[in-house]
Amino acid sequence: MAIIRIDPDRQLGRVDRRLFGQFIEHLGRCIYGGIFDEGAPLADQHGFRTDVLDAARALRAPILRWPGGNFVSGYHWTEGVGPREKRPRRLELAWHAEESNHFGTDEFIQYCRALGAEPYICVNMGSGTMDEAQAWVEYCNGTGDTSWANLRRANGHLEPYNVRYWGLGNEMYGAWQIGASTADQYVDRARQFASIMKMTDPTIELVSCGQWGWTDWDRIVIDALAAYVRYHSIHLYTGSSDYRRNVLMVHQAERGIRICETLIERARYQQHISHPIGIAFDEWNIWYRTRADSERRAGLEEQYDLSDAIGVATWLNIFLRHCRSVEIANYAQMVNVIAPIFTKPDAMFLQTVYHPLQLYAEHHQPIALDVYVESARFEMTAEDEARDVSPTARDWKVSDLGPFQVLDVSATCDPASNTVCLAVVNRSPDEDISATISIDRHTLGPLTVHELNGADPHVRNSFEEPDAVSVNTTYLSTEERELHYTFPAHSVVVLRGQYQLMD
Ligand code: AHR
Ligand code: AHR
Repeated sequence: MAIIRIDPDRQLGRVDRRLFGQFIEHLGRCIYGGIFDEGAPLADQHGFRTDVLDAARALRAPILRWPGGNFVSGYHWTEGVGPREKRPRRLELAWHAEESNHFGTDEFIQYCRALGAEPYICVNMGSGTMDEAQAWVEYCNGTGDTSWANLRRANGHLEPYNVRYWGLGNEMYGAWQIGASTADQYVDRARQFASIMKMTDPTIELVSCGQWGWTDWDRIVIDALAAYVRYHSIHLYTGSSDYRRNVLMVHQAERGIRICETLIERARYQQHISHPIGIAFDEWNIWYRTRADSERRAGLEEQYDLSDAIGVATWLNIFLRHCRSVEIANYAQMVNVIAPIFTKPDAMFLQTVYHPLQLYAEHHQPIALDVYVESARFEMTAEDEARDVSPTARDWKVSDLGPFQVLDVSATCDPASNTVCLAVVNRSPDEDISATISIDRHTLGPLTVHELNGADPHVRNSFEEPDAVSVNTTYLSTEERELHYTFPAHSVVVLRGQYQLMD
């Protein structure tokens, strides 16, 4: 019998809703043919696919990152504004494609408004210049009688966009990145970009380009840019065709967060920096199938199974457990490209990974709690890892972090309304696990229970079978001191309801 126990007074911190952020890049069919499909029967007058927009709205993303990703390092934003027919069609070097420039800054802002998300723009520090980045901030946020602000007005947008979040380049450490550089070269340029962008609008919040959280690149960038930035970004993709590795490799993100938190704390202490610096985990996901060059060209149309949804739920639990330092997270990516929403011209379906994203964003509460969990242990040995040759597994090793609890749990509450939410991921591929759940000094219930599951961990959703992995909702009407619940094998269960102080 497993035990899950919480105490509403043992609070980890406030949950920043920006943890449920999303990311869209000019890559494959994410934008063109995904969220934007000019003239298509399912598109509205702006060219936005209405079915996709509805599904995306349910993910409740408060922040949307754009335009890349690797794409941004060759992107010149001025080519993507003004009359569409005059915008140049460009060779797109990051993903070996062609860019029509029909979706640009104005369309992005309009999409953010339609979605209810704040825009987060990453600037081009590859082939782009300081001037371009400066002009971009002025175009978006300028209020004066200046040419870039006036260009926005001429394009039909009188009010400033007030874009608050700006990223200083994408993955500038990587050989695959246009304009990749050493950390020292990067920080020299990033300081210049940061200064001129802040001079243009001092209210913007900058994000330094980190790596995985634990590397020398992260250390050098944090030390050099701490005074300039409000967030340090990390990216990580986990995943393996081996079930156990797929669901456990996610814990590498915890290592990245822990080390990154410490690097940030050290820089702030040594440099007497008083402003907070949060982690922006602005690309994260499970991605291991579509890694080959040919699949990259085909647009990374990863098809997700139930084990991936279990991994995604574990990812989200990790963010919630680290809510003091992780302030922003952007799921990469939102549509078609390693994505929860998958389209064809006349239809769409929700991939397995959509469901944990949706359930967590809907049900988790504003305060994260420290959960006590006692369950069977899940081992992963160094030998297991050595046998796994999937591309991510080569680098991300977590055998030294285990053994892991087979039940991975996050809990949140809202003391104002006595609402509690527990998300329990049973990562066992074959065993149901019975648990007692209790809240110190409180009764628990009534509760609504959302159970995500499918016939086996390798089941996928598809156009033909869109609900092979789906959510079943039930209601527990009782109010108990201790609740008994059996968490089915390979499931994600989100319980939400009331708790009351006992006499
Ligand atoms: O999300 C896919 C790609 O992964 C992004 O373009 C890049 O930033 C990362 O390497
Ligand atoms: O028990 C699940 C998680 O595994 C713990 O929270 C974490 O510390 C470990 O990596």
